[in-house]
Order: sequence, then C-alpha cells, then structure tokens
Amino acid sequence: MTTWTNSFEGTGPLGYLQSGRAGQSQQPGPGVPAAVAVRGLSKSYGRTKALRDVAVTIRPGEMVALIGASGSGKSTLIRHIAGLEIADPGHGRIEVFGGLVQHDGRFGPKARTIRRDVAVIFQQFNLVGRLSVMTNVMIGHLGRVPGWRGTLGLFTRPERDAARGALARVGIPQVCHQRASTLSGGQQQRAAIARTLVQRSKILIADEPISALDPASARRVMNILAQINREDGISILVSLHQVEYARRYCPRTIAMRDGRIVYDGPSTALTNAFLSDLYGEASEELVLFDDPADAMPSGKTALA
Ligand SMILES: Nc1ncnc2c1ncn2[C@@H]1O[C@H](COP(=O)(O)OP(=O)(O)O)[C@@H](O)[C@H]1O
Ligand SMILES: [Mg+2]
Repeated sequence: MTTWTNSFEGTGPLGYLQSGRAGQSQQPGPGVPAAVAVRGLSKSYGRTKALRDVAVTIRPGEMVALIGASGSGKSTLIRHIAGLEIADPGHGRIEVFGGLVQHDGRFGPKARTIRRDVAVIFQQFNLVGRLSVMTNVMIGHLGRVPGWRGTLGLFTRPERDAARGALARVGIPQVCHQRASTLSGGQQQRAAIARTLVQRSKILIADEPISALDPASARRVMNILAQINREDGISILVSLHQVEYARRYCPRTIAMRDGRIVYDGPSTALTNAFLSDLYGEASEELVLFDDPADAMPSGKTALA
C-alpha cells in the first residue's frame, strides 16, 4: 500500500492536510486557548505502541470525528485527553482550555479540576442500571456538589430541575423514574448525554457512542450531539467506527492508523477511494454505504 504522504502530498483538497502547514492553520488565534491541545503524545502498553507522537488541536466549538480501524488508538487518545490515563514518561503534553492535564508522563497540578470540564461518554453507556434515570443524570452534578451531599443522594431542587431539563432536551423526559437498566440502548445513551449536560462541561468526548445502536437510534444520538455543539458551543470529539456518520455530522475528521494520525482535515474529502488508500483492506470496516445520502435520509429529530 502506498503511504498517505506519498500519494497525496500537495494534491487536490488533501494537499494541505497533515503537513506542517495544516497544524498551523488549526491553531486558534492569539490569546484564545485551544479547547484541546495535544502535542507529542506517545503511549506504549508493553511492546504495543498505542500512540505514536500524536498532535491534535481542537478549537472551541468544533465538532470533530475521530475515525480508525479497531486497535488504531482512538480510545487510548480519548482516555488521555479525559485525564484517565497517563502517557509514557517524557512523551507528550495535553492542555484543555489552557489548563495542563498532563506533561511528560505526569498529571498537571490542576488535572482533577480540569477533568470536570471534560465529559466523556462511552459505547457501553456507563449508567448504573439499578438506579433511576434521574439519579444517573444527577451524578453529573457530583463534580460540583459537596461529597457528603452527593453520597447521600441529597440534591437540591435546582439540581433536580436541571436533570429533568436535560432529560427533556435529549427527548426522554418520560423515563426519568425508570431504572436505567430498563431503557433501550438508544435511550441509555441519551441519558448518558443528559448527564454530561448536567455536568456543564466545556468539552464532550464520546468514544464510539453509536456503535452499539441501531441506525435510527444512532442518527438520533448524533443529531443530539450536533445540536448540543451548535446551541451550547460545546466542543465535541466523537470517535466513530463508520465514516458515513463522520461525513454527515462532523465538518472535520481526524483519522488514526497504528497509533498515528494519518489524516486531519475536512470530512468531505473522505471518499471511499481515499479511505481505501489510507487503510487498505481495513477500510471495509469503516465504510458501509457507497452513497451516504442514500444511507442517511436527512431529517431532524425532535429535541424537546
Ligand atoms: N489497557 C491496555 N493494555 C494493553 N494494551 C492496550 C490497552 N489499551 C489499548 N491497548 C492496545 O493499544 C492499541 C490501541 O487500542 P485502542 O486505543 O483501544 O484502539 P481503538 O479504540 O482505536 O480500537 C491496541 O493494540 C490495543 O490492543
Ligand atoms: Mg476503542
């Protein structure tokens, strides 16, 4: 397989991507910190190099897709940005809105506080099944309420109202008293998004949030993410297994392969031909339909 650099350097719409110039063009203006700035990040698990010298800048208010075959490093990158994991000693720096999350394999002194600004949702929804949906959503308050109150489940009226409002916003106000385990997959993911709304984070990182969902539920979840991005200005990084969703919902895509970023630019440039050059046989994993317009009839989901 030809490498991306050899095939595409300087050609057509892809010419500027993933070159030194591309990195500069994605820097925010002076005085405005990036929502996420990752530099020189490397991570090994034993002999597996999960991340190799990764650099990413996400501007405030962007909605960016992260794509790549299984094992390419998407979840590892997400866990590092979320402050859940530490890079190899001496390898890399991550800042969130100018605050140091980690540097040279050590957490920054304010990493715990910064973590509150980063909400993360996962493929497996991560709700507590035996608790009510309301309680699960109110867990989003916990970064900000005193520990004893959270532990006792004592939430104030405004905190309850915020949870109800968030559930209404993601279109499932009616399930608030149900146990989380009784919800469908799509409803569980929407409840997980409601929890992030309550958290009032500045960044939402979603690790394959739609991989376990049927297409209709997947579209609804992506519509909700896009709406939150648009209306609240929250920066969103969403890893996706299928490129169609990146093309449809995210103006920009970052593509990974073997722990490296191999593409960073407009999602419109991700044609099937380009993807097969980028990923070889692995591209079959990422591409479902020939024409995304056929696969995804447009239509807005009702968000109360
Ligand atoms: N905790 C871990 N221990 C050992 N290896 C890991 C761990 N997490 C990820 N890896 C390895 O790192 C590579 C990247 O994994 P991952 O980030 O999960 O990829 P993706 O999310 O793109 O599927 C894979 O080879 C995976 O096996
Ligand atoms: Mg993963």
